[in-house]
Amino acid sequence: MSGLVSLVGAGPGSPDLLTLRARDRIERADVIVYDRLVNPELLDFARPDAQRIDVGKSPHHHPVKQREINDLLARLAKDGKRVVRLKSGDPFVFGRGGEERAYLRAQGVEVEVVPGITSAIAGPAAVGIPVTHRDFASSFHVIAGHRKREGHELDWANIAGMEGTLVFLMGMESLGRIVANLVANGKPADTPVAVIQWATRENQRAVGGTLETIEREVDAAGLGAPALIVVGGVASLLDA
Ligand SMILES: C[S@@+](CC[C@H](N)C(=O)[O-])C[C@H]1O[C@@H](n2cnc3c(N)ncnc32)[C@H](O)[C@@H]1O
Repeated sequence: MSGLVSLVGAGPGSPDLLTLRARDRIERADVIVYDRLVNPELLDFARPDAQRIDVGKSPHHHPVKQREINDLLARLAKDGKRVVRLKSGDPFVFGRGGEERAYLRAQGVEVEVVPGITSAIAGPAAVGIPVTHRDFASSFHVIAGHRKREGHELDWANIAGMEGTLVFLMGMESLGRIVANLVANGKPADTPVAVIQWATRENQRAVGGTLETIEREVDAAGLGAPALIVVGGVASLLDA
């Protein structure tokens, strides 16, 4: 009998931001295949005999290739296992969950998606920043900040022209490029910016500034990945 793969969102980091459904799936899993940003404390919900497989990816190091992860998930499910594929935040927000789901379905494997609280919203909220606010922004846009490295350039003219809040994920290595492109395409240099590292975790840190100053602020505070970059009026609401 074939098993089931649950693509489960682990939430932004704090274990109590896990959904009840996600906790249920972790508790019942035979195998948990998890990513680098997943808080290891969540594995404590698993059965003691559940197998735990770390396929963590760090920005410069890809220990397990995506194809191998896909094959691993399919193989485990075909062995009849209940598999939890645990991903930070929401599995369908820059989590390659869509690719894994498509692959598994093509292999005839049953797959379900358990949404998670994405860091793109919960991260700013953790430091008092709402992604929308009637005084500042009537939309928000979640953008992969590292896109250039993958060979495509973002449509900066379009992005800089949007009135809504911009939330960049995976953008810390490209902070200078992001700021320069926004300003070059007309975003005022005094637009508020906040950077939040390890949001909702015990080691959470954040700094605020403007497009003009944020690189200096980030350097001075020594912030790095994983972090969110929030651009727009709402970033001025960052808790002091
Ligand atoms: C591959 S993406 C995965 C996003 C995830 N699926 C989500 O919905 O939050 C990884 C990026 O998410 C952001 N991120 C995830 N968790 C974070 C946290 N607790 N604090 C700050 N940034 C976080 C960082 O920008 C990181 O580089």
